[in-house]
Amino acid sequence: MQQKIEPIKGFSKLSKEAKLEWISKLSNTPEKTYKLLTGYYHQDEKLQKLHDEFAENTITNFFVPYSIAPNFLINDKLYAIPMAIEESSVVAASAKSANFWLTRGGFKTTIISTTKVGHVHFAWWGDYEKLNTLFEKNKQKFFDDTQDITHNMRKRGGGIKDIQLVNKTEEEPNYYQLLATFETCDSMGANFINSNLEQFARTLKSLVETDNTFTEEDKKLTVIMCILSNYTPECLVRAEVSCKVEDLEDEKKEYTWQEFVKKFEMAVHIARIETYRATTHNKGIFNGIDSVVLATGNDWRAIEASGHTYAARDGKYRSLTDVKVEDGIFKFWIEIPLSLGVVGGLTTLHPLVKFSLELLGNPSAPELMEIAATVGLAQNFSALRSLVTTGIQKGHMKMHLFNILNQLEATEEEKQIITKHFEKDTVSHQAVVKKFSELRGIVWKD
Ligand code: MEV
Repeated sequence: MQQKIEPIKGFSKLSKEAKLEWISKLSNTPEKTYKLLTGYYHQDEKLQKLHDEFAENTITNFFVPYSIAPNFLINDKLYAIPMAIEESSVVAASAKSANFWLTRGGFKTTIISTTKVGHVHFAWWGDYEKLNTLFEKNKQKFFDDTQDITHNMRKRGGGIKDIQLVNKTEEEPNYYQLLATFETCDSMGANFINSNLEQFARTLKSLVETDNTFTEEDKKLTVIMCILSNYTPECLVRAEVSCKVEDLEDEKKEYTWQEFVKKFEMAVHIARIETYRATTHNKGIFNGIDSVVLATGNDWRAIEASGHTYAARDGKYRSLTDVKVEDGIFKFWIEIPLSLGVVGGLTTLHPLVKFSLELLGNPSAPELMEIAATVGLAQNFSALRSLVTTGIQKGHMKMHLFNILNQLEATEEEKQIITKHFEKDTVSHQAVVKKFSELRGIVWKD
C-alpha cells in the first residue's frame, strides 16, 4: 500500500497543502488518500484553522466519539457527563453505574488537597550546610523575584506555597533540588509552575555566584532542569458510594446480594495484591477518567502518569479503588491524584471543550476533580459488577457484533435479525459474516 519513505528536510515549513500532497504521494492511491484525509476537514474554515494550530504538522482531524453519560448524582447534584472515548462499552458502563447509584444515594466526594509540585534539579560540588545557610537566609528572595509571575495567581488565592532545599546526594553525587509547592486554583498550572521554577533557578545561581563567603569552586552550580512534577499525590480527591448490602440485589435476580458482595470484595482484594490484575483494574478506571479528562481539554497523559505512580506509592502497584463491608453497609471508594484545570490551555479555545465545561455547569477545578474521580469509580464498579456476575464478554460482544454489522453495511432489518440470532449463539467475526451471507443468499465457504 505504501511507497518507501525517504527522509524529508523542512517538512514543518511546508504549507498544509504541500504536506498533504507529500503524504498522499506515499500511498499507491494518492488521490484516494488525499480525499480520505481532506474528508475529515471541518466545513468551517476558521474552525479548521483553529484545530490545525493546536499542534504541529497537522494535516487533518482524527475523530473520537463524544458521548454523554447522564444521571450522575454527585453530592446531591445531577450531572450529564461528557466522555470522549473510542472504546465501546465504556460509556454504557458509566451510564449503567450512574443509574444504579442514582437510586442508592449517588456518589459522595471530598477534595483532600490541591497542592502541586515542581523542582529545580541542580548539581553543586560544595558543602551542603553552606548552601543550606545561604538558602535559608535568602528564601524570601525567591518569592520576591517571582512577584510578577505570581501576581495574578495570588489575586485568585493561589501562588507559591513553599520552597525547600533538598539534599539528594545520598542517591546521586552532587544532586540537589529546590522543591517548590504551588496552589494553582482553577488552572492545571504547568506554565505557571515552570515559569516560577526557571526564575528560582536564576535567583539561586545569582545568589551562589555573588555570595562573598563562597569560594570560586562553591560558585559553580549547574542547573540540570526546571520542571513541574506530574506526580501530584497532594492534589488528591476521594469519591465513594455506599448502600445497605441488600440493596445490591440484582433486579433481574441473576444473583443474590450475598454472592455479589462476596465476589466483589474478593475481586477488589485481588486487585490490591496482584499487580497483573491491578493493572487491568486501574486501566478500567482510567477508561472513565481519561474520557472526561479529554472531553474537558485536560492532559490525560499527565493524569495517567500520576495515577499509576500513586497506585504504586507503597512500592507495589495496587488497585486505586477499595471496598469495605461493615455492619451491613457496602462502601466502595477511590482516592486518586487528579491535577485538572478549567481555565487556560484548550479550555477557552476548543469549542467542544467549552461546551463540555458548560454542560458540567462551568465547574471549578476541584469540582472537575470530583466529577472525573466519580466516573473512574463508576466505571470500575460496572466493570467489576460484570466481571463477577455475567462476565464482560456479553456486553463487549454485543458491541463487537454492531461494529461487524456496520462494517458489512447491514440494513436495520438485517441487524435486528442477526442480533436476535446471536442472543443465544457466540459472536465471532466468522460466525457473523456467515449468518449475514446466509441472510443475503450468498453462498458461504469456510
Ligand atoms: C476494558 O477496557 C477494561 C476492563 O478490562 C477493566 C477491568 O477488567 O476491570 C473491563
